[in-house]
This record gives sequence, C-alpha cells and structure tokens, in this order.
Amino acid sequence: MWFEMALSMCVLAAADGDAATPPAVIPLPARMEVKPGRFVFDGATAIVFDAKAPGADAAAGALADCLRPAMQAPLPVRAGDVRGANTIFFGNGEGLEPAGEEGYHFTVTPDGVEIRGRAAGLFYGAQTLRQLLPSPVFAGALRGDVDWSVPCVEIVDRPRFAWRGMLVDVARHFMPKESLKKYIDVMALHKFNRLHLHLTDDQGWRIEIKKYPKLTEVGAWRDETQVGKPKEGEYTFDGTRHGGFYTQDDLRELVAYAAARHITLVPEVEMPGHAQAAIAAYPELGCTGEPLPVRTFWGVNENVFNVEESTILFLQDVLSEVLELFPGEFIHVGGDECPKKQWKESPRVQERMRELGIESEDALQSWFIGRMDAFLTERGRRLIGWDEILEGGLAPGATVMSWRGVEGGIAAARAGHDAVMASTTHLYLDYYQSKDESEPLSIGGFVPLERVYEFDPVPAGFSEAEARHILGAQAQLWTEYIKTPEHLEYMAYPRACAVAELAWTPQELRAFDGFMRRLRTHVDRLGALGVNYRPLD
Ligand code: ACM
Repeated sequence: MWFEMALSMCVLAAADGDAATPPAVIPLPARMEVKPGRFVFDGATAIVFDAKAPGADAAAGALADCLRPAMQAPLPVRAGDVRGANTIFFGNGEGLEPAGEEGYHFTVTPDGVEIRGRAAGLFYGAQTLRQLLPSPVFAGALRGDVDWSVPCVEIVDRPRFAWRGMLVDVARHFMPKESLKKYIDVMALHKFNRLHLHLTDDQGWRIEIKKYPKLTEVGAWRDETQVGKPKEGEYTFDGTRHGGFYTQDDLRELVAYAAARHITLVPEVEMPGHAQAAIAAYPELGCTGEPLPVRTFWGVNENVFNVEESTILFLQDVLSEVLELFPGEFIHVGGDECPKKQWKESPRVQERMRELGIESEDALQSWFIGRMDAFLTERGRRLIGWDEILEGGLAPGATVMSWRGVEGGIAAARAGHDAVMASTTHLYLDYYQSKDESEPLSIGGFVPLERVYEFDPVPAGFSEAEARHILGAQAQLWTEYIKTPEHLEYMAYPRACAVAELAWTPQELRAFDGFMRRLRTHVDRLGALGVNYRPLD
C-alpha cells in the first residue's frame, strides 16, 4: 500500500535536474513542479494557520521563529480559516491525496503559500519553505538586501522511510546540552526524525539515575583520555579529567525541544558490554569483583556485566527511569561488542548458566537481552539493539540496528523483525571523509560523501514484504576522536545531507550529480546557520 503510493508519485515526479531552475531543496521532495512566477513577501505578508488543523499553529510559529532573526519586521502570525491573499497558510490536508503523518502538500502562487498536512507534515512544509528562500535568511542577523521571494512550485512530498536518524555518542566525549539543541535544529531542517543518544559506555555514564547516584557521581568522570592512536602498543594520555552528564531535567528539556521539531530521542543504555563506567560505580555489577576505573582508552573491552538476577533488576530499574524520561517507542539497549571471555572464565557465571539451563555464552547474551525485551514489551515499548543481538537468537520483540554491514538487517527482516540500517560501510560519519592529509585524526575508515549518497537502505533482491521491515537508515557519529561540538559538525555535514536524502527521497529520483548541484547552494545555508561543515571539494 505504502509502496504503491510512493511509486505512483514517482511517475509524476520530475527527475532531479530536469526542470529549468529546480530549487535546491534537500532532501529532494517526492514530487516538485516548478511554475512560472514568484511570491514576493512584503510588509503586509502574514503567516496564517487554521486553528482546527492539529499542529498548524506550531508549524506557523516554528516558521516565524526561524525567519525572525533575519527580518527587519517579523511576519505576523494569526489564526484564520481560509487562505487569504498574501499569506503563508497552514491548514489540514483533508480531501487531498493522502500524505501520511509526515507528508505535506505545498503550493506557491504569486498570491501566497499554502501548506497542508498533519502536524509533522506541516512542520516539514515549513522547512521546505525556508529552503526556497535565499541562503542569507538562515543567518542570525541579515546583512544587506535580500530578495524575500520564493518560486512558484507545486510539491507533494512524503518520506520514503519512517526512521531517519542520527546517532551522537555523548559517552566518549560529553556534548553540552546547548550544542545538542543546535544539532537538533539542523537535523530538523533536513527532516530527520530520530536522534539516538549513546548515553553510556566504558568511558562515561551520562544520564542521571535517581536510584543509583554513583552512576554519574563516579561513572560520569574519567581521570584522563587516550591521546591519538597507540604507537607500538604504547598509549599516551592527556592527564585531564573529562566528564559530564545530563540531569533528568536536562533530558526532559531536550526531549521537549526535539519533540517540538518532530524529532524523537532514542536513548541507548549499553549492555551487557561497554559497561565499565557502570561497573566502576557499582563493582558488584562486574564479573571479577575487582574495582575498576572509568576507562580512559578506546576499543572493545572484556569487562562486562555479570548475569546475576540482581544485575538484571538493577538495569531494569535504570530502564524504568529511562522510560519516565523518554516517551518514544524505541529503547536501545546496545548489545554490541560483548566479549564472552569473563563469562567463560567466571565460575559463578558458569554456575548461573547451569542454573538457567543455558548452554552457550551467545545464548546467555540472548537471555540477557530477552529479559530486557520482556521488560520493555510489558511496558508498551520496543527494544532495539545492535546486530550482535541476533547471535544466540533474537528476542521476540527486538528490532535490529544493522551496523556491521547490512547482513544483520537482512537476517532480521527475513525473520520477520524490523531493522534500521546503520552500516559502517556507508553511514559511519566518524570515518574519514577525504584522503586529504589535513583531515582531523579519525578512528579510521573512509566514507566520502559520494559513498554515503549511494547507499540504499533496502537491500537488493528484497521483496516488498521484506522491505517493509526496513524502518529506515541512521548515520553514526562515535566520538572517540571528536571532542567538541564544532568537530562533530565538521564530521556530520555535509555527509548528513546525503543521509537525509537517502532516507527521505524516492530511490528512483536520487542522483548524485543533482544532489551535488543542490548541495552547493545548501552549504551556504549551513554556513549562515553557523554550522562548521566541511567545505565541498
Ligand atoms: C558499534 O559501532 N559498535 C555499534
């Protein structure tokens, strides 16, 4: 059904680059027809919203907020039932071709702008309108004259995928709350709808948990940090304490800030591996009983959670507080890179396996994740985890985030589970984006812009039924070698623009040349917004 609709829209869509001067909208809309003429804003132009259309007032307000810094006289915003002359009108999409929750109908005539849809669609229509205006309007304060006009167009738009995500690892390097708000703003401009926060890892625990205060008192701080890569096995350290965490109030504020931009925060609490910061705070959670520091260097780590009932209950208590803070459907429990060495060597873990009747360590990890799956399912949520959760058997309700290529996503979809494609091969934005020697030190890998763009989240040969299990795509920004928000932006943009398009635009309309042509205009918007993007070659 969903597919048929997407395809019928494609037939009518002009391929990117066909029209005379197609506007540089990223992600490219599903259908866009440029018409003669322009709508010129003047002193009497107003933003009008139909108060009966859910989300119309919010979308109108969001548009006004974005444009205000650049306008000498801000556009008035008022309620009104009908689209009058010289207005930017937000209303419902009743009677129009269905656009779903996130789609929208968008018309510009010389007389005004009309945007119709449901709440998220109206918000996305406002983002498209911003991109039809000249780049300087994205700046905090306008310098010089700007042509406040937009081309006449007819757009019918809707996303290809429901999950259009970005991960930020705030565990390896803490990113201040205000920097995440800016990050969310820029994501919203690109119609992303999921921000996955990697909140816990060996090197830091970043979420306040009221029941277990040492998780942040101890776990949010490490004594120092590895500098560069180890040379011949020798590490160098910076001798500087690093840390920070988000209070529960901070997280509530971020959740609301993101929700106002139609972005859902997906929290990740890692288990049973990548757990050393938690074990540093509460040594009884570990396998050896030895006290451990919060880890100061990167890489896969043998120190993992034990499998006692008390540890399961501890983590479920943590998840209970997570559920209070994060209203979204999906809760990420990690599950990647959990070496089984300590489980194999620990007499107590081996005894516990016999108690539970579990025969392999892989099956033990499945049991562990299965306990969390049951816990989340009972509370009306869904578990998502990295593709290692397939090993030893997938928990009944689990969704797989496929990072070691697309194979995990394929296996999950073929088994009737949902999957999000987050492959290292194309979507790891912590990897190098060029071979230029001046690129900042990165963890490795090579994922230039063109490579990102070529990724199709639906694997070749998938049936429609299988493809429906691919919820979408997500870019990853792990921060071992990314210490500041500015560096994070440099790694994210412009590659995230390509991710936005591969997750939104019908595959048949995507072409790298057309994308690059639009991107050359789009980076000026990023510049005006103060995003530290990597300049185009
Ligand atoms: C991962 O990169 N370990 C998910």
